[in-house]
Amino acid sequence: MKPSSNYPELLGTDHIEFYVGNARQAAHYYQAAFGFQPLAYAGPETGVKGSVSYALRQGKIIFVFTTALRTSSPIADHVFLHGDGVRVLALLVDDAKKAWQQTTRNGAKNYIEPSLLQDDSGSAMLSGIHLYGETVHVFVERKNYHGVFLPGFVPWKPVYRPGDAGLLVVDHCVGNVGWNRMNHWVQFYESVMGFTNILSFDDIDISTEYSALMSKVMANGNGYIKFPINEPAEGKKKSQVEEFLEFYCGEGVQHIAMATKDIIETVSTLQKQGVEFLKVPDTYYAELQQRIGVIDEDMSALKELGILIDRDDEGYLLQIFTKPVEDRPTLFFEIIQRKGAKSFGKGNFKALFEAIEKEQALRGNL
Ligand code: FE2
Repeated sequence: MKPSSNYPELLGTDHIEFYVGNARQAAHYYQAAFGFQPLAYAGPETGVKGSVSYALRQGKIIFVFTTALRTSSPIADHVFLHGDGVRVLALLVDDAKKAWQQTTRNGAKNYIEPSLLQDDSGSAMLSGIHLYGETVHVFVERKNYHGVFLPGFVPWKPVYRPGDAGLLVVDHCVGNVGWNRMNHWVQFYESVMGFTNILSFDDIDISTEYSALMSKVMANGNGYIKFPINEPAEGKKKSQVEEFLEFYCGEGVQHIAMATKDIIETVSTLQKQGVEFLKVPDTYYAELQQRIGVIDEDMSALKELGILIDRDDEGYLLQIFTKPVEDRPTLFFEIIQRKGAKSFGKGNFKALFEAIEKEQALRGNL
């Protein structure tokens, strides 16, 4: 491994930008269903040509929804090919020029050369590199910026302002890559970004009876940023990753896990607001007590909401997965509450994948 000065020092996730068919409606959905709060707007009125973006925030999570105003646009091309999906995983850095120099020197493909953006509220340096599929990492240096989000954005203050749902931070973002491409991207995170592989799941962990996949979790030095990478595996049934690749027309972000301090409260709110979650069979809870032991939460409330529980050496975690949030069976979200556990809910894979398969079968894709 190269000395750490060869790798960018990442301070956290800055924001996640989605390219969508209709940013105004997407923004409304994430406000109304997920409880995101309006933050900033950019468009022709603010000097941005050809596209419109809405930034929303909840806790430290910032989502940006961007749409093209005209047909001839790389944003429109992205939406045509992939449907609504994640384009940018933006990472906060102290020095975006240095992060770009380090990563491109380590072999990353340039997406944006270091560029200084400025407005009345200061300046921000942005740079970027290509990732799997058409996904990119953008490095954001904002220490000299005091505006609401980034240069070019103005405060967005709609009248409609539902409350938040207790979502706090991005816990991890999972990428689905093609057959035999997982190790390529594992190596990318190792050699370009200086990440390490903290966990691996092979197709035996993720039983071949179920929609098989393999997964490796890559994490940065401080452990704040985790990017698991999945690839499909041969199984008796069609892999859920394969279904994603088919409908997304390539590799991309499969799910974003967002952490809460009170999963019962958060999931109750989200369900009331129309977010749909995967349901595991009731038998899941019958076998649970033995596997999990004593926990702080009321088991009947967890069962009622369909929240899953798993334990590792360091503690336990509570998690639940939404159904895909667009018509294509592509991006979905995970809501997670960690109580010591640093793992990803391996004990839930079987029940979860059965639930995913049931949905896949309903779509005729199994
Ligand atoms: Fe996850």
